[in-house]
Amino acid sequence: MDLELNGKVVLVTGGSDGLGRALCRSLVDEGARVALCARDGDRLDDAVTELRTRAEARAEACARDGQHPPAGGVLGVVADVTSPRDLAAFVEAVVDTFGPRIDGLVNNAGRSAAKRIADTDDLDWDADLQLKLYAAVRLTRLVLPHMARPGGSIVNVLAIAAKSPGAGSGPSSVSRAAGMALTKALSKELGPDGIRANAVLIGLIESGQWERVAGARGMTTDDLYRRMASDAGVPLGRVGRAAEFADTVSYLLSPRASYVTGTALNLDGGLCAVV
Ligand SMILES: NC(=O)c1ccc[n+]([C@@H]2O[C@H](COP(=O)([O-])OP(=O)(O)OC[C@H]3O[C@@H](n4cnc5c(N)ncnc54)[C@H](OP(=O)(O)O)[C@@H]3O)[C@@H](O)[C@H]2O)c1
Repeated sequence: MDLELNGKVVLVTGGSDGLGRALCRSLVDEGARVALCARDGDRLDDAVTELRTRAEARAEACARDGQHPPAGGVLGVVADVTSPRDLAAFVEAVVDTFGPRIDGLVNNAGRSAAKRIADTDDLDWDADLQLKLYAAVRLTRLVLPHMARPGGSIVNVLAIAAKSPGAGSGPSSVSRAAGMALTKALSKELGPDGIRANAVLIGLIESGQWERVAGARGMTTDDLYRRMASDAGVPLGRVGRAAEFADTVSYLLSPRASYVTGTALNLDGGLCAVV
């Protein structure tokens, strides 16, 4: 199925590692023009180099097969999504590079923050809300004036704890629940302009953060993933693959999902107790 993403401009926060990086690969393969941001400049450069090489290989393959060349284009911007100034500079760089129309925004940057509520302090809550909620609100506000209408698509990457918070899941589960409400409110406000907003709720998926955990515990990533799936009791019996995340989000960004908005899709191998 052609996702009709060729030439579309998509912003991905936290695109230098893990799920965001896998999504950028998928978008490049579809011929989209991709702008990614992250804080660590070296890792961002590494991702941009990989993505540009991938885009060139795809362009050569299209030329060999006599197909139209993909529009393509990859832009990396060092930005901390908790900084309003960095977010504004990110959007400005995208518009300068790819032009005034933005088709997709994926609010993905984040990290796990889970403690018992009694053990948290105000700094924990401030940091988590800045990273996971305010960043998405601010970037959405900056992108909206440029967003294709109709046709724009926003995807907020959340976690299944948003629907079924467990003990010791704060402040993350609470920030993620706010992200779900944000998604629904946006879908109602932006629907009349033909802009869609959806959330993807992650269970356990292979990514850079887990590779770092495996390293710290002296385990192989495969052993860690097997242990995680079995401890959590994932019905499909394994953690997800980053490419499965990339496929799901690419679909939600694409015109093929043109009647899908206001949803919070569990991507968790059946783990969440709630539909
Ligand atoms: N993988 C899972 O099992 C899982 C489960 C539940 C939820 N999630 C959510 O899915 C999203 C992606 O997670 P992941 O597993 O792919 O994590 P990851 O492998 O650690 O990658 C995180 C990415 O976000 C960037 N990032 C982190 N903080 C940032 C900031 N303040 N500003 C800009 N970029 C920032 C990182 O780059 P820098 O560090 O260089 O900034 C990196 O590119 C996160 O929101 C995470 O909470 C993942």
